[in-house]
Amino acid sequence: MEVRKLHPIFAAELIGADLTVAPDQALIDTVEAAMAEHLVLCIRGPVISDEEHLRFARAFGPLELPGLFKPDAPRRMAYGLYDASNLDINGEIVDRESLRAKFAKGNELFHADSSFNDMPSKWSMLRGVIVPPERGDTQFVDLRHVYDELPQAMKDRIENLVAEHSYAASRIRGGVSPEEAERLRAAMPGALQPLVRVGPTGRKSLFVGSHAFRIEGMPDAEGRALIDELLAFASQDKFIYSHKWQLGDMVIWDNRYALHRGTEFDYERYKRDLRRANVNEYGEERAAGPLPSAITSDAKTAA
Ligand code: OGA
Ligand code: MN
Repeated sequence: MEVRKLHPIFAAELIGADLTVAPDQALIDTVEAAMAEHLVLCIRGPVISDEEHLRFARAFGPLELPGLFKPDAPRRMAYGLYDASNLDINGEIVDRESLRAKFAKGNELFHADSSFNDMPSKWSMLRGVIVPPERGDTQFVDLRHVYDELPQAMKDRIENLVAEHSYAASRIRGGVSPEEAERLRAAMPGALQPLVRVGPTGRKSLFVGSHAFRIEGMPDAEGRALIDELLAFASQDKFIYSHKWQLGDMVIWDNRYALHRGTEFDYERYKRDLRRANVNEYGEERAAGPLPSAITSDAKTAA
């Protein structure tokens, strides 16, 4: 196996891994080491099955199960995977004006998956089952590097601050109505996250994203302005690795130290079927929070 860098700052490709067979310890160790260093790792190969995807994911931690489904509800994919596609249950492209599409639109803002959940989030593992022939990249930034690059005055300012994250907040920014956001808020209350995280090697990392909307102990507007300033700083082109999807790609990212976002493509014209497994650092395999019956069955992409 060989690890090749994809960007000067972070992100790499792992060559020579076969995900159609159960991962052995050598593969697990290689992936863990590459992830610790590069934060984003792409494994290219043939399109594997949902079951192979789930088996691979479970080798790295307990799954965070999608919370918006009943396990026996009709689905396009195996239970345990999140649907990040633009497709409905029959595999047809959803209406651009649908709630589903509006939810997906929120994914085009830089975020860390599940930062609104009070769970020990580890990685997302997103697989390209159908990819558009052009555009629709997924973009990433390394928040450890972003932290290093922050002016010292900003580092001092944010050192002990805590942000409140909520799914409703990022969906409002993506364009869902205030009424829909209210229902989301009731079902998913959100979580508190420090603005500065410390990684296993002691390296500090910024932790913001589109789910963050308020800073503890700060007037709302001031907190919002600080979050926006940090997000704008983190979103500079020079920090971004933009992943061009190829069929069969398995792209893994670390939600603790990286942000990601989707980008636009010809939504009405091209199918884009991406399926995601999320793993936590430890704990039980479970969905976050209560099953939100308040949410319309349409709203499938909790990201
Ligand atoms: C996700 C996500 C972005 C994309 O699946 O969590 O944010 O490019 N996807 O689809
Ligand atoms: Mn996401």
